[in-house]
Amino acid sequence: MASDTAYDRLIPDLRLDGRVAAVTGAGRGIGRETARILAAAGAHTLVTDIDEQAAEETAGRIRDEGGSASAFPLDVTDEHQVAGFTQEAERDAGVIHILVNNAGIVTMAPFLDLPEEEFDSVLAVSLRGAYLMTRALLPAMRKSGWGRIISLSSMLGKTPARYTAHYSAAKAGIIGFTQAVAKEAAPEVTVNCLCPTNVETGIMEKDFEFFGEREGISPDDLRRRWVDAIPLGRLGQPLDAARAVLLLAGEAGAFTTGQALNVSGGEEVH
Ligand SMILES: NC(=O)c1ccc[n+]([C@@H]2O[C@H](COP(=O)([O-])OP(=O)(O)OC[C@H]3O[C@@H](n4cnc5c(N)ncnc54)[C@H](O)[C@@H]3O)[C@@H](O)[C@H]2O)c1
Repeated sequence: MASDTAYDRLIPDLRLDGRVAAVTGAGRGIGRETARILAAAGAHTLVTDIDEQAAEETAGRIRDEGGSASAFPLDVTDEHQVAGFTQEAERDAGVIHILVNNAGIVTMAPFLDLPEEEFDSVLAVSLRGAYLMTRALLPAMRKSGWGRIISLSSMLGKTPARYTAHYSAAKAGIIGFTQAVAKEAAPEVTVNCLCPTNVETGIMEKDFEFFGEREGISPDDLRRRWVDAIPLGRLGQPLDAARAVLLLAGEAGAFTTGQALNVSGGEEVH
């Protein structure tokens, strides 16, 4: 193929050289893989997490892999910490072009047994956290003329399940937030979210425990039920979500905004 074809020019569109990316909750799980893949694509990556040591570990791993990363302790529910992070990061690294609102906590409970504080904390981390971070970083992105905001919703934000009223509400909220902000942030900044099915991270262990105690289902049986519902025949891995972030983060995602992208092996199709 001749070297000046349009395809040759498209392939580098996944590269993020010269970009600065911030990932929340990047100490483990999906956030860690996302920070690693963005750094591998060339972005200087700001690895943030409420768990400072976990953030340091992810940043250290990225540097060992040849990438560029700094770690920041950051609780996304605390607007003072969000303001402090924004000031320090923008002073040291310049404009943050890519924001991944990944931090989230999961609990399961029958709706009528759900403690009020649990409802509040799940919404605070996922939804309020995404709001505070987006509000803090969007102005500089717009001013620079380019930006990407990608938040972690969930398949449960589209098709809720039992025992997840609070979590499903938070994740449906992320979809509405994404769609509304996308219309205001255009044309400089695209705003999208991901809707993964079950992804094998620490969160899944909690599900095994909950269904084991409540319904006597063994982890193997639960896993089998979940896999049976996924046409591609396996559970999600953190890298599956990270790859979807990468597609949206570079020039490859230039004309995609306001979307809630399923990363579900075909389980969710709407
Ligand atoms: N694992 C799944 O099955 C799945 C499916 C769909 C969506 N998601 C979403 O993907 C995101 C990541 O999930 P995961 O499975 O990697 O979770 P995880 O529990 O493995 O990691 C979450 C990270 O967020 C951090 N965190 C928690 N509270 C925080 C706060 N207040 N401020 C900053 N960081 C905080 C934790 O310290 C942890 O490092 C979440 O938003 C989750 O809801 C996960």
